[in-house]
Amino acid sequence: MKGIIYKGFSRLSEAEKRKLVSHLCEEPGVTELELNSYIVKDPARREMFMDLSENTVSAYHLPYGIAPNFVVNGNIYHVPMVTEESSVVAACASAARFWAERGGFALKEIKTTKLGHVYFQWFADDKALFDAWPKLKATLLSRLKYVTASMVQRGGGITSLELADDRHKTDKLFRLVVEFDTVNSMGANFINTCLEELAQGLDEGLNNAAKNPENSDCRIVMSILSNYVENCTVTVEVSCPIRNLHGITVGMSQLMFAQKVELAYQIAWNDVYRAATHNKGIMNGVDSVIIATGNDWRAAEAGAHAFASRTGQYRALSQCEIKDDNIRIWLTIPLALGTIGGITNLHPLAKKSLDILGNPTAPELMAIVASAGLASNFAAVQSLVTVGIQKGHMKLHLVNIFNALGATPKQRQLATDFFQGQKVSFAAVKQFIDEH
Ligand code: MEV
Repeated sequence: MKGIIYKGFSRLSEAEKRKLVSHLCEEPGVTELELNSYIVKDPARREMFMDLSENTVSAYHLPYGIAPNFVVNGNIYHVPMVTEESSVVAACASAARFWAERGGFALKEIKTTKLGHVYFQWFADDKALFDAWPKLKATLLSRLKYVTASMVQRGGGITSLELADDRHKTDKLFRLVVEFDTVNSMGANFINTCLEELAQGLDEGLNNAAKNPENSDCRIVMSILSNYVENCTVTVEVSCPIRNLHGITVGMSQLMFAQKVELAYQIAWNDVYRAATHNKGIMNGVDSVIIATGNDWRAAEAGAHAFASRTGQYRALSQCEIKDDNIRIWLTIPLALGTIGGITNLHPLAKKSLDILGNPTAPELMAIVASAGLASNFAAVQSLVTVGIQKGHMKLHLVNIFNALGATPKQRQLATDFFQGQKVSFAAVKQFIDEH
């Protein structure tokens, strides 16, 4: 086996960890200094950033940009985005401007119910469980009052508690299905705390406490929120008369452009290969805003892709329809977001993003994030059905290539001028830089 197993790594000091991992690289001394150099120097902030995670040895920087001029439900937002992918912010900005002149993004529907489960096996007669349930439910809800008190004060709490029979899926399996309103917080910790408390109440209620767990009737398997939040979704839409699609059709008639766009959305609805890439284009916008606002983009990704499969086939999250000389494009996406709690209160830039957005409520943020997703999706499809994505993408990527090649300012200027009308590729740019 290649490599070394570290024992007690987490107990080392930050500097010791950095030193140790630096020795995995060819130039340990240089690596150590480099890792150190990316850490925020301001002592107050340094601690906050380093403590967000564990075994921290450096800080990983990503660009923080603004896609201006989003009109969402009649309000104007200049949307903070964090992404490493060139052209995402530019694409969102141009789609936002285009649709701002055509009424912007309209919020069509919003649902905010979050969900969690307690999974347990029941080894006794099922009638006994069903008979016990109504009384047990009341006991469980009153037991939870002390956990939910402050959430209830903010207008949220548990909105439903039901027993589901899952024996058709897994032997002896039942599930508590718990719905939550977490108001402006994402609520992951709140939900999981409630679920674990419910599990304990279930165990005590059904096993009359303190019995040998090996012989008990009820075996708690696990308690966890679900990232498949099919009732925490937002639908945003753009639409305009086809004749107003000027400026982006690249030599095509507006009608032909609209028809190609509609076809592209149909392909993404029907074909899983295209659906995955189409949805990736949506998530380019969605994740960037989610990261900028300190929300959980892995939760959004997991939920979005599960939702994309809700018909039994993985499909596009956005659709397009031409009707009565109008084109309408809409996106429905599950998003469990928060504007208070979590790192939204801790990370200074997450806080600043929310400030830039006018400190939205969680539902308002859902609409903004979905609009960024639809903007990024529309911009990609617009390119795909006209000039292709490489033209714009590689132009913006040119700067990355210059940086990778260590090009001088003069070489950059010459190459930028030269590649105005040329196909950009790494090899072509390298050759040009080598020759100049
Ligand atoms: C690239 O990050 C995203 C796209 O592939 C999305 C799409 O194809 O719709 C351009």
